[in-house]
Amino acid sequence: MYHVNDIVEPSIMGDEPTMYAFFDQLRNETPVIRCEHPDFEPFWVITRHEDIKYISQHNSEFINNPRTVMMELEYEQGLLDQFGTRNGLETLIHMDDPKHRKLRGVTREWFKPGPVARLTPMIEETARLFVDRMEAMGGECDFVKDVALLFPLRVIMSILGVVPEEETMMLKMTQELFGASDPEQSRGDGQDEGMSVLLDFFAYFKQVVEDRRSNPTEDLATVIANAKVDGEYMEELDLISYFIITATAGHDTTSATIGGGMQALMQNPEQLEKLRNTPELGNSAAREMIRWVSPVRHMMRTATEDCSFQGQPIKQGESLLLWYPSANRDERAIERPYEFDIERDNRHQLAFGYGGHMCLGQHLALLETEVFYRELLSRLDWIEPAGSPEYVQATFVGGLKSLPVRYAFK
Ligand code: HEM
Repeated sequence: MYHVNDIVEPSIMGDEPTMYAFFDQLRNETPVIRCEHPDFEPFWVITRHEDIKYISQHNSEFINNPRTVMMELEYEQGLLDQFGTRNGLETLIHMDDPKHRKLRGVTREWFKPGPVARLTPMIEETARLFVDRMEAMGGECDFVKDVALLFPLRVIMSILGVVPEEETMMLKMTQELFGASDPEQSRGDGQDEGMSVLLDFFAYFKQVVEDRRSNPTEDLATVIANAKVDGEYMEELDLISYFIITATAGHDTTSATIGGGMQALMQNPEQLEKLRNTPELGNSAAREMIRWVSPVRHMMRTATEDCSFQGQPIKQGESLLLWYPSANRDERAIERPYEFDIERDNRHQLAFGYGGHMCLGQHLALLETEVFYRELLSRLDWIEPAGSPEYVQATFVGGLKSLPVRYAFK
């Protein structure tokens, strides 16, 4: 039996089998339950698919500002003191309408399936580079550290105008920001260290903005840097936050999907063979990998009026934490949720969220995953685990951080 307060523990949420057992318990016994942990402002834990979908869909009754993710009180206070907001940033996920609609509009076109499909040759070339690298490693590697982590990073960084020499620094900064609770990935224990990561991001992207205003190109960085909202350039905080959300949301999540997808394929060899023999299933397989991994573990909303879910009254001003991996294992909404099935109809999965804030980069994430596996499986002969997998110890963006594998190319 788990206690609801365990939900704040990265060591529990960072271990997938334990996390899913905990969610099964919550969904079945207490699908709407209040967490009152001494180190956190209280919040409601929401674990059923239907409730998460409803809350995500009703953006004026459940707003993103002021709290978007679960953070320790002390850290939230530090951000308030230093930046004047509890988030430190002002990204799309920290905003509500009408501002959210306007700023999302800046890149809405760019992220649609058609424009994203134009990136296919670049994504294929990048996938080839990393599959070549895997082949060159001679039959054994850490699939996450050597491949899955680096491929989406290269894609998103090239779109944002970060040159390859600076990618390692960006990767480190993202891990420090998202995996702040994982001792191996955090910059340090104190809130000063957490805040210094944000300041580093600011300094870096300010330079990119200046450059793209003087030397515009076709990339996303140019779109963001030169966008006018109500006739003006975006304010500095909004602008730099836009870069940070795209850079950070765009790679750890996709890396986790590709890493977890490989683990699922090795555990289900018949699915691997099916995908290899039927490349048309690529998009559907990518969707299933994303449901299976659900790398974004949660987002938070705050109720603007009194409401109730599963008979539990919730008051205006109280926060609700929506747990996507739980929604995606909810047998009330998803058939055989614990089976990895690349042919599944995945219209109902919630790994990208839902409603007005639904993931802006979803078509890019799907394309990257599909292209990567098409390239890899056309060349790979066999692959098997070569050691124990390890998970990121984090409650926000999770997934594998290590997956040793042994393999041969054809
Ligand atoms: C498998 C990969 C990915 C997953 C699972 C994922 C998941 C999510 C989730 C759950 C949200 C919040 C939705 C909500 O609150 O309803 C989100 C928002 C967002 N994602 Fe993704 N994401 C992925 C990849 C990407 C990529 C590749 C990009 C961009 C390059 C991206 C950019 C964004 C942005 C900008 C938002 C904020 C949207 C808004 O608030 O309007 N994501 N994503």
